[in-house]
Amino acid sequence: MNTRTTGEIAAAAREAVEAALWAPSLHNTQPWSFTVSGDEIALRADPDRKLRVADPDGRQMLVSCGSALFTVRITLRALGFTPYVRVLPEPQRPLLLATVRVRPGEPPGEHTRLLHAEIERRRTHRAGFTALDVPEPLVKALVSEAAAQGAHLLAVQSEPTARVLAALTAAAQEVQSQDRLYGLEVMRWARPPGSGRRDGVPSTSYPTAPRRVQPQHFAQRDYAHGHQWGSDDDQGLHASTGLVALLTTAGDGPADWLAAGEALQRLLLHASAYGLSAAFHTQALEMPELREFVRTRLCSGEHPQMIMRLGFTVHEAGSVRRAPDEVVEEA
Ligand SMILES: Cc1cc2nc3c(=O)[nH]c(=O)nc-3n(C[C@H](O)[C@H](O)[C@H](O)COP(=O)(O)O)c2cc1C
Repeated sequence: MNTRTTGEIAAAAREAVEAALWAPSLHNTQPWSFTVSGDEIALRADPDRKLRVADPDGRQMLVSCGSALFTVRITLRALGFTPYVRVLPEPQRPLLLATVRVRPGEPPGEHTRLLHAEIERRRTHRAGFTALDVPEPLVKALVSEAAAQGAHLLAVQSEPTARVLAALTAAAQEVQSQDRLYGLEVMRWARPPGSGRRDGVPSTSYPTAPRRVQPQHFAQRDYAHGHQWGSDDDQGLHASTGLVALLTTAGDGPADWLAAGEALQRLLLHASAYGLSAAFHTQALEMPELREFVRTRLCSGEHPQMIMRLGFTVHEAGSVRRAPDEVVEEA
């Protein structure tokens, strides 16, 4: 029989939540906290880290937390445990996003180990990609990964559609750059060079002067707001848009946002295992009119949760995370 001591279960739970800190989150807000009590993990949203201007409903906060939840699941499986997850277990406590009971399980399969190995290696990319196409079998695999978590990854193969998405991103970025409250919110999470903060977007994670990429240029967020921040990596090899993709869900409530986040992290880890990176461009999804346009015109009525580009890069971006003791409570 597969038995584990209480100490082994507690150690696995702790390792799973520490791994989850490496999930992606909007502006690296890391809008989560964890409580580990015995064999149970509780994941909560941290409303102080919600972006009130860009994300008033907390949709992207929950997508971020969903990514953390998937990281808990895959880590427990990789350690030979079975996670029993209840999503939004207490409707009267909406910030309690999930509880995970840790039970002894089977030794991990190769795929689980593959995804688990990428958790701390995966990085957001913020420039063009190399000219290498994403192989079709890899695209299919990413679509399956998203589907396994209840979301749809739509690879945009039509050039006009990719152009429309790039134009919407540029329009949203322009509108947001003229909006003082938006600007202040991004500034709050953009870190100057040499910052010791362990959250927010560090200046090592984007180029100083991003090149225009072809065939469609997707506007980047302005984390440097007029300063010469950023890294000076040679972008000569990185001139391509890569594969444009949309992540969608059938519904658009908190459970769907969490599912989108789980799907996102699952497909990102798979992508990373094959050397593929992702760049995100969610500006247009923060503007209700543009999000509705994307939903009805480009997503067959499904709700867009993420606009991204996928491709190969030789660039290594930096990232930071808060220390576990700031985020994890042992009860
Ligand atoms: C819901 C969501 C939206 C995001 N939107 C953007 C975006 O519009 N632009 C961008 O450069 N990064 C975006 N990101 C990536 C985060 O900035 C990134 O995950 C965070 O800074 C941590 O860095 P890392 O992914 O390299 O670990 C988004 C991430 C999530 C989860």
